[in-house]
Amino acid sequence: MAHDHDHTHDHQHGHGHDHDWAELAPLLESQAELFTPLYERALNWLAKEVTEPGLIVDAGSGPGVISCLFAETFPGARIVAVDGSEPLLERAGDRAGRQGVGDRFGTLAGELPEVLGELDYPADLLWASRSVHHLGDQAAALAACAARLAPGGTLAVMEGGLPPRFLPRDIGFGRPGLQARIDAVEEERFGRMRAELPGSVAVVEDWPALLTSAGLHHTRSRTFLLDLPAPVTDRARAYVVTALTRTREVVGEDLDADDLATLDRLLDPGDRASVHHRPDVFVLAAHTVHAAVRPV
Ligand SMILES: C[S@@+](CC[C@H](N)C(=O)[O-])C[C@H]1O[C@@H](n2cnc3c(N)ncnc32)[C@H](O)[C@@H]1O
Repeated sequence: MAHDHDHTHDHQHGHGHDHDWAELAPLLESQAELFTPLYERALNWLAKEVTEPGLIVDAGSGPGVISCLFAETFPGARIVAVDGSEPLLERAGDRAGRQGVGDRFGTLAGELPEVLGELDYPADLLWASRSVHHLGDQAAALAACAARLAPGGTLAVMEGGLPPRFLPRDIGFGRPGLQARIDAVEEERFGRMRAELPGSVAVVEDWPALLTSAGLHHTRSRTFLLDLPAPVTDRARAYVVTALTRTREVVGEDLDADDLATLDRLLDPGDRASVHHRPDVFVLAAHTVHAAVRPV
């Protein structure tokens, strides 16, 4: 989640705590499913530049929704989903089986970036979405990813973009601008999360420059939108409820009393003005992909 401002949906306690990530599985999965149109556009963009990859690695795959989209977009490729959480990888494997691509789908469990050393073959395409920012030394992580590329292989990192929006600025109660203030406390929280990661190193999060420093070239970045205007589907509404519930859990105590009361009202299913019922709920999100190539 780029200096992905999707922190709400993100992990807050650093890496490697399987049960924490596994607890987030339904959220990660429903989010990735809802965001599928965005990922499809990102993958189609990559498909124009990466011809017939043999091996695609999804580093920090989570439950594998995007890994399976790779299998669909690149029918000739073998996909390996890599993650620190075995329960999430199990979900990824199950999903691949359900989608009929299990025969060319594998998983690899372990700590990033070290675990990449266990791959049998170098990757033609290595994708890492919203996972690098969970690693203490992001520059070293990118260098480790780059080292696992075949000559001419592509590293694509989804990091950064914009904080998502679900509601108008003025929702008719509370102080207008609630989501902007939630972003601010989530940004603080994200900073603390990064500072507490093992081996945490502060770095300028200039992703193209970091890819260049990792020895890659032909760097380019592109941002993909998810634009689901009101009135939203039940699925999109359920996602907004889950996302704001997680915000309440994670940064609730950092909001002032008025904003907390507003958030509670927004989450109260018995309240007609809550996100469970209000007609003006929407989903607008922007994620950036930075891609670069290992010289031949
Ligand atoms: C925010 S999720 C992103 C999931 C998926 N790539 C997506 O974009 O929907 C981050 C993933 O990175 C994994 N992860 C975080 N730190 C890790 C580490 N140090 N080693 C291995 N996996 C890690 C988590 O288990 C989680 O599945």
